[in-house]
Amino acid sequence: MIDGRTRLCGLIGNPVEHTMSPVIHNTLAARCGHNLVYVPFPVESGKLEEAVKGAYALNVLGMNVTVPYKSEVIDCLVETDELAAQIGAVNTLVRTQGGYKGYNTDMSGLHRAMKSEGIRIEGEEIILLGAGGAARAVAYLCGAQKAERVYLLNRTADKAERVAAEVNRAYGREMVVPMLLSDYRKLPDGKFLAIQGTSVGLSPHDEDVVIEDSAFYRKIHTGFDLIYKPFTTRFMRLVREAGGEACNGLKMLLYQGIIAYELWNQVEIAEEEAGFLYEKMKREMGIS
Ligand code: ATR
Repeated sequence: MIDGRTRLCGLIGNPVEHTMSPVIHNTLAARCGHNLVYVPFPVESGKLEEAVKGAYALNVLGMNVTVPYKSEVIDCLVETDELAAQIGAVNTLVRTQGGYKGYNTDMSGLHRAMKSEGIRIEGEEIILLGAGGAARAVAYLCGAQKAERVYLLNRTADKAERVAAEVNRAYGREMVVPMLLSDYRKLPDGKFLAIQGTSVGLSPHDEDVVIEDSAFYRKIHTGFDLIYKPFTTRFMRLVREAGGEACNGLKMLLYQGIIAYELWNQVEIAEEEAGFLYEKMKREMGIS
């Protein structure tokens, strides 16, 4: 029941129509018995600052931020969490004294999703595909979580080099090795965790994949695709065919939402609730 005490959270971005976040937060609110509703707010270009100020004035408890405002929103905040500031992208605003504090729960969500699958980053040798916004954030997460080494493979060399230099500077060691995607045969021997952070294979281009060669996939013990549409990407199938484990990005989406919800409401969501919500999200996507 919406009443005089109902708190509001929402999503700002453009477009926002296809988001799964209302399902996540409204389900959590109902299951936790919190008097809270979550709605999408399409914000037009040039209106971001007004939107954030207006939300604060209206006592909005928290916000998610999506494309294209994850960087721009940082200038509208009173404080930014350290990892989010390094990455230069904020997806969650938490109400504090005088304004909002920004976090990046996409990355803490990915970390928690990996933990829930029993995948470690610390001490690992990792292959990271891509050097765009998403992959760059993953490279920072790998730095923060003390990966042994990250082989950063990208189609465009200078972008990989730029991200590697940036992350290596931030963590004070040569942990990220930039490589051309087409040079994947030069990867050292061994078994790797591979994170697929390019946009290749995203629906409706379900059959696309950055590397076809089965010899590459035999190097992978676990493949994590950040994509969740399609639910099973071609990358995941190739990893499995070569004998590895594979997961998609739906748990990352789930946990980025859960962590935002926890920050807003100062609660801890149990794994059992996360499991319930995950099944609901799958049904929402038409996966049984
Ligand atoms: P996002 O925010 O999803 O990371 P992005 O910043 O546009 O999106 O980055 C897209 C990533 O997918 C990049 O690493 C891009 O490679 P380039 O830096 O060479 O552009 C990668 N990518 C997109 N299409 C690709 C393709 N056809 N082959 C290989 N890599 C591709």
